Amino acid sequence: MPDASPRRPRVLSGAQPTADSYHLGNYFGAFKQWVALQDDFEAFYFVPDLHAITVEYDPALLRERTYVAAAQMLAAGVDPDRSALFVQSHVPEHAQLAWVLGGVTGFGEASRMTQFKDKSAKGGQDSSSVGLFTYPILMAADILVYQADRVPVGEDQRQHVELTRNLAQRFNHRFGETFTVPEAHIVKATAKIYDLQDPTAKMSGSNASHAGVVDLTDTAKQAAKKVRSAVTDSGTEIRFDPQEKPGIANLLTIFSALTDRPVDDVVAEFEGQQYGHLKVALGELVGDFVQSFGDRTRELLDDKGELDRVLAQGAEQARSVAVPTLELVYERSGFVAPAGSR
Ligand code: TYM
Repeated sequence: MPDASPRRPRVLSGAQPTADSYHLGNYFGAFKQWVALQDDFEAFYFVPDLHAITVEYDPALLRERTYVAAAQMLAAGVDPDRSALFVQSHVPEHAQLAWVLGGVTGFGEASRMTQFKDKSAKGGQDSSSVGLFTYPILMAADILVYQADRVPVGEDQRQHVELTRNLAQRFNHRFGETFTVPEAHIVKATAKIYDLQDPTAKMSGSNASHAGVVDLTDTAKQAAKKVRSAVTDSGTEIRFDPQEKPGIANLLTIFSALTDRPVDDVVAEFEGQQYGHLKVALGELVGDFVQSFGDRTRELLDDKGELDRVLAQGAEQARSVAVPTLELVYERSGFVAPAGSR
């Protein structure tokens, strides 16, 4: 049973350490929301290293990327005094719960996950790992093991949160009320930031070229150049029209998110000006942003001892919630408790 005593609602999210850095899409689609939500929610944010091994990877690189990931989450404003920040593999209950949830997941419903279809299409389904296929079940476990109420993510994760809701409801129905049924928290305006070189594709660390992906480790110069070189649309008028002008709409979205101003306001500012003006101004803004973001990240990375301490504290907080949930799940599942454990 979810805690009987009243508690603050919980929020949980993670971002994979599968690239050398997170990018602007991760920042606006996810991190900005994570940071805002930690005021009103009991927050759990983590680096899903177990998810990262479902595609081919290099262990030494994963170790380094896990630290960079944690440092970037902190640089984005995750506050370890208010939120549990941890590494997924430090909390074994995620993997344990994933196994149990696998028993209530249909093969057909897992097969319908579009992220799996997209990712496996790249290398051919036969060479995809079983881990990539069951990945969304682990994600459901990540969420349910904390009885999370909200899950702030970008649009591309909506289907996984939907699956999580279905699994929670199914388990509750079969075995008695056990899980909180979570809701996705998706901020429409920034739910999908597009690649600057291809404004019909989402900005993604796995895009073949990084010319259209602003990494949070880019220098001011690199980032400004990427923005100035963004592919824009035919015509000259600056207006927010995602259908007709996806390139300009993407730039306006980023401008608005970065300055916390309504898009209309930004459009008004550039009225009568050329695309080039918008690109130069946004290039400078984005350049300044990644520069200070990078400075903060490097400072944090300089003290791995402190990062380790923050992550250990986060894992301890996380386990204080995950362990009792798993105990309840095991009991509901009919597993005999080891003698002396209760
Ligand atoms: P991941 O690692 O691909 O992305 C991390 C977060 O960034 C969002 N995002 C974007 N938002 C807007 N525009 C973009 N171009 C863009 N690209 C990425 C993603 O939607 C996500 O919120 N399966 C998850 C990681 C995960 C997770 C979880 C998330 C594992 N367990 C539990 C929430 C709860 C993933 O691959 O996200």
